[in-house]
Amino acid sequence: MISVIVLIIAVLAAFSIIYFTFKNGISPMPSSKKVCAEIAKLVSEEKVVHELGSGFGHLAFAIAKANLNCKVIAYENSFIPFFYTYLVSHMLRLKNIKVILGDFWKLDFSQFECVVAYQYIEGVQRLYLKMESETNNGLKFITNTFSVHKTKCNKKVYINDISNSVLFCYKVEPRLKSGKLHEEII
Ligand SMILES: C[S@@+](CC[C@H](N)C(=O)[O-])C[C@H]1O[C@@H](n2cnc3c(N)ncnc32)[C@H](O)[C@@H]1O
Repeated sequence: MISVIVLIIAVLAAFSIIYFTFKNGISPMPSSKKVCAEIAKLVSEEKVVHELGSGFGHLAFAIAKANLNCKVIAYENSFIPFFYTYLVSHMLRLKNIKVILGDFWKLDFSQFECVVAYQYIEGVQRLYLKMESETNNGLKFITNTFSVHKTKCNKKVYINDISNSVLFCYKVEPRLKSGKLHEEII
């Protein structure tokens, strides 16, 4: 009887992950250990880091463990990865992580200072545009693997891991101040 219940739970969990993978356009595939370590270094000066789509929490844990004075706010809408990250962050007693179950497209980025993400190519593009139109004072944006089309980054970091990952670091300026809105109106 117990094995049937376990089997049903496993099948439901697998369906849930597959459902959110199709809904989001990306699976909860984790960043490599080397990527996590490098991002943890790149955000070491930050007080708060917002991670958009935290999957099973690999990156959030790495940032929080390496930077105890930094608060990591991780957003994930896929229930199983969220629940796993929530549970493990409590088991590891990581007090500087807050995991939120929800859709990051609904967030308001106006007060954010630092954002990290590992998303699909169109998602990165859309995120950049959303940040540009919402940020008040500019923000730091680090994206794993996919860059923002036709936009110069401040820094590129090549990672010697199995997929030769590249990290792209941007300083996103408010749209009005960067003059883009003005150009568009003209
Ligand atoms: C490739 S994984 C990255 C995992 C983790 N950030 C890392 O680097 O190890 C992308 C994650 O983003 C999540 N995601 C995609 N769109 C989302 C949305 N709109 N709101 C919340 N999470 C989302 C997916 O469910 C997935 O777990």
